[in-house]
Amino acid sequence: MCGIIGYLGYREAYPILINGLKKLEYRGYDSSGIAIFYKNGYSLYKTKGKVDELEKKISSISFHNRKIIGTTGIGHTRWATHGVPNDLNAHPHVSNSNELIMIHNGIIENYHAIKIILLENGFTFKSKTDTEVLVNLIEYVKKENKISLEEAVRISLNEIIGAYSIAIVDKSHPETIIIAKLGSPLALGINEKEFFIASDPIPFINYTKNALYLKDGEMAILKKNKELDLRKIRDNHKLNPIINKLKINLKEIEKGKYRYFMLKEIYEQPKTISDTLRGRLIISNKIICIDGIELNKEIFINAKCITIVGCGSSWHAGLIGEYLLEQLARIPVEVEYASEFRYRNPIIDKNDLIIVISQSGETADTLAALKLAKKKEAFVFGICNIVGSSIARSVDAGIYTHAGPEISVASTKSFTAQITVLILLALKLAKYRSTMSEERYQFLFQELGNVPNKINDLLKIDKHVVKNISKVFYKFNNFLYLGRGINFPIALEGALKLKEISYIHSEGYPAAEMKHGPIALVDKNMPVVIIATKRGYYEKIIGNIQEIKARKGKIIAIVNEGDVQVSMMADYVIKIPEISEELSPLLTIIPLQLLAYQIAYIKGKNIDQPRNLAKSVTVE
Ligand code: F6R
Repeated sequence: MCGIIGYLGYREAYPILINGLKKLEYRGYDSSGIAIFYKNGYSLYKTKGKVDELEKKISSISFHNRKIIGTTGIGHTRWATHGVPNDLNAHPHVSNSNELIMIHNGIIENYHAIKIILLENGFTFKSKTDTEVLVNLIEYVKKENKISLEEAVRISLNEIIGAYSIAIVDKSHPETIIIAKLGSPLALGINEKEFFIASDPIPFINYTKNALYLKDGEMAILKKNKELDLRKIRDNHKLNPIINKLKINLKEIEKGKYRYFMLKEIYEQPKTISDTLRGRLIISNKIICIDGIELNKEIFINAKCITIVGCGSSWHAGLIGEYLLEQLARIPVEVEYASEFRYRNPIIDKNDLIIVISQSGETADTLAALKLAKKKEAFVFGICNIVGSSIARSVDAGIYTHAGPEISVASTKSFTAQITVLILLALKLAKYRSTMSEERYQFLFQELGNVPNKINDLLKIDKHVVKNISKVFYKFNNFLYLGRGINFPIALEGALKLKEISYIHSEGYPAAEMKHGPIALVDKNMPVVIIATKRGYYEKIIGNIQEIKARKGKIIAIVNEGDVQVSMMADYVIKIPEISEELSPLLTIIPLQLLAYQIAYIKGKNIDQPRNLAKSVTVE
């Protein structure tokens, strides 16, 4: 993970870097650092903790200190891999001669072997990081061969196994920054006399809309007042830069009236689901348009089975996709954790269809699973939120979820956008394969178009109910979440939301599976959140509720409006509008997102940046 930033131009670098790092904190926030360059020297500031801590440290040390002034600089916000979060392991890292200064996002897998060679050649190390090894390897190669920095970077990177996006500066030549990428993301903002470097374009969107996304295996030599020099790392081949025009609405990345991004993103869901449906659910002639499927119709019609791959919430969306595709389109589906799929030599070949799901489009394990599937010549279809992300660029075809930038680490609106896409996909394939009645198709089609209104209603009503429940339960140490059928993955997702932002242990289970173990945990100290909507095995769920009550467990039930039976048995109820079972996850998840948010809020947690987590998991 980690966020990297850099500036080279005519403006003061410091404000651009420090504000940019704040926008990149979703990528990691355990330590941060900045280096600003001036003629033949540099100022370096690093500290454990968030970017605010770095800013405080810099203003306490260098108030009135002219050395923070400079028009070249690099910065980094870290999510620790090698070495604990502390000042020494924070980036930027400096080479032994104190000449080269570097920031890095990624992992150098063969760093240990390289470190041994460098130690044998007299190098010493202050930190435990792989980055300090790489910057010293570059120095070693440069000095031994008496070559330019760009050549030394290129030769060194050809020796590296792993993933990186880097920016490196020679303190004697602050008019040049060299950047390179393999595996980790790197965007370059370009104006006539300046370059902006960042892990994503948001930090520089205020300054320029012209962006270049470096591809894997590319490096660029950025020089003040010179044109961009883009090359292949492998053979130094010169490349033609392809500049994109960015289309990001700044309002989407501001909190507005909300205290936390997570709450804003929960409340945005009526709009984001409408955005996902726009241009796809064509109400006027009742058709579903998905170009990526229409252009590859035969592959989808003939698929003998589909494998869905993802991590975390995207994996949960995949489980809902399994239910939908099997129920509606009658295609067998397997759902795999990307991290498991890629390491067990999966049996796939060129007739197979793989769907990868990722909000960020940068998750290292999902990207690696995708590459493996492509190597085996399978057809890979992507469901991504971030336009132009590594996964979006690597798939054979795909669909964007259009949920807009999701800043809070916990996924909310991107999850419901993924489910919306999977519903569209299942309906489309069901139509192609004639596996459902026209009547049912028309009914679900109509109902799907109405989901944003239903969520709007639900958000208005549920706020106070959920607040009151949260006040009762925020001190409990464990929660059980139960659901059946299509709402079992919602139980998993609800439990994940609670644990990641409030640090309360919570587990999701299929309701009937409770008898096979978890029921041993149930007593008066165990709140059980149970999804008990009318259309999903209602009678069976009532049986499960009886079992919990008999053991004095506290029941918080998600029920439909007008429900009587479960409402009489449960300790607390949260009501959602009536909806078909296939579409119900789009509603049942909303109160669970709110419950996790409210509990974390009462507990005073940093909701948008929970400890140990990062938004984009670009390490394996
Ligand atoms: C949970 C969460 C994570 C992500 C997971 C995959 O709230 O956000 O579990 O879902 O890291 O990320 P993407 O979807 O970007 O591949």
